[in-house]
Amino acid sequence: MQNEKIFRDPVLNEIHVYDQVILDLIGTPEFQRLRRIDQLGVTSSVFHGAEHSRFSHSLGVYEIARRIEMHLENFYPTQTPGDGLWDANERLVLLCAALLHDVGHGAYSHTFEHIFHTDHEAYTQAVILSEETNVNAVLRQVAPDFPEKVAQVIAKTYPNPQVVQLISSQIDADRMDYLLRDAFFTGATYGKFDLARIVQTIHPYAGGIAFDEKGMYAIEDYVVSRYQMYVQVYFHPVSRALEVLLQHLLERAKVVYDDRRERGLSTDFVPKLLQPLFSGDLSLEQYLTLDDSVLLAAINQWRFDEDSVLADLSQRFLNRVPLKSITVGKAQRHLLPELRRLVEAAGFDPRYYTAENDSFDLPYDAYNPDAKQQRTQIELRQQNGNLVELSEKSALVKALMGREFGDARFFFPSEMVKKQATDDMMAPIYAEFQQYIENGQLVEPETKNSIK
Ligand code: NI
Repeated sequence: MQNEKIFRDPVLNEIHVYDQVILDLIGTPEFQRLRRIDQLGVTSSVFHGAEHSRFSHSLGVYEIARRIEMHLENFYPTQTPGDGLWDANERLVLLCAALLHDVGHGAYSHTFEHIFHTDHEAYTQAVILSEETNVNAVLRQVAPDFPEKVAQVIAKTYPNPQVVQLISSQIDADRMDYLLRDAFFTGATYGKFDLARIVQTIHPYAGGIAFDEKGMYAIEDYVVSRYQMYVQVYFHPVSRALEVLLQHLLERAKVVYDDRRERGLSTDFVPKLLQPLFSGDLSLEQYLTLDDSVLLAAINQWRFDEDSVLADLSQRFLNRVPLKSITVGKAQRHLLPELRRLVEAAGFDPRYYTAENDSFDLPYDAYNPDAKQQRTQIELRQQNGNLVELSEKSALVKALMGREFGDARFFFPSEMVKKQATDDMMAPIYAEFQQYIENGQLVEPETKNSIK
């Protein structure tokens, strides 16, 4: 490339591109599609600023990876193969994997995947490996086996653990970008940490990536940011309520679609681009036509569908009428069938108007052979060159480590907790339902009565 190319970015200030292959990848239709997918899905209904796209996040992950690579190349270039230092030949595979790590993401990803059994990581690899995509054609120009290498980094099977950990670990370019970006666009003040400091302290070794001990306070800040963003933003009860609505309206649309098809009726209430998804025969090319706008246009139209459940759920979703929720402790779970019965008695189908949703996560965990998902622990490099696991040095991280944060919630229509029922017939049902709720928590009605 003759000149560098600079993209202005509100979070990282400037994104620098020096390689034609990176610029060509950004220009592919598959990558441009990410402009039409919101990074945080329904979260913008709670934090209205959070309308940033997967496109800006992907550029950000690329830029953070580029800054890290420059630091590694400047300070820790390999001298002899196998010395555990950084091999500059890995530069392009790292940068391409960073840029493309989310290229297979769908609209409202997690909800969508749940209903239609798609998997964005599998699609990311398919976009990279399929000879039909423009992304693959650009990557193949580097070398015939280059697409395979980039896909291996995404699949975490790439032989160099340094490259894999920079894209996917407990402190990687992906997480560092989304925490900073999501904090910036939600307006949250607690997601921030000192990115430049963390990058400066990255220190490669044969087994992967460590951090110089002097960077510990910046890393503590990152771990705490991560914890706070999860609790305050990602697990927000209203976002989860809207996600439940979206999930249920898609489920309902699928039921209505199958029913009409079986009866030989028209299924054109499902827009053309969504038809392959509903019929269960979706090619990669068809998958890549799907974005937020396709889904939103369909939901907009479904508000007027003759199926009253689909129409009502669509209306609630678009007009932001979320379900209400209460937290449910393990000891209260046996009360949920009774609550569902009351919701049904009030005229709502509990399959579509109630839900249980658990959101838990670990802000940080050391190596745990029993964990369901293996995590690479964060290693600090002491002055004598020895590595020590982060929580052994940081009391702050130790306090957060291995502890799950989050809650379990039960969702129901807000009508159930209206102060006064307008419909006399319904008044006793609402009153009975409300007996179970105190301060946003599910309680045993008897206990509540005996206290009073
Ligand atoms: Ni990402």
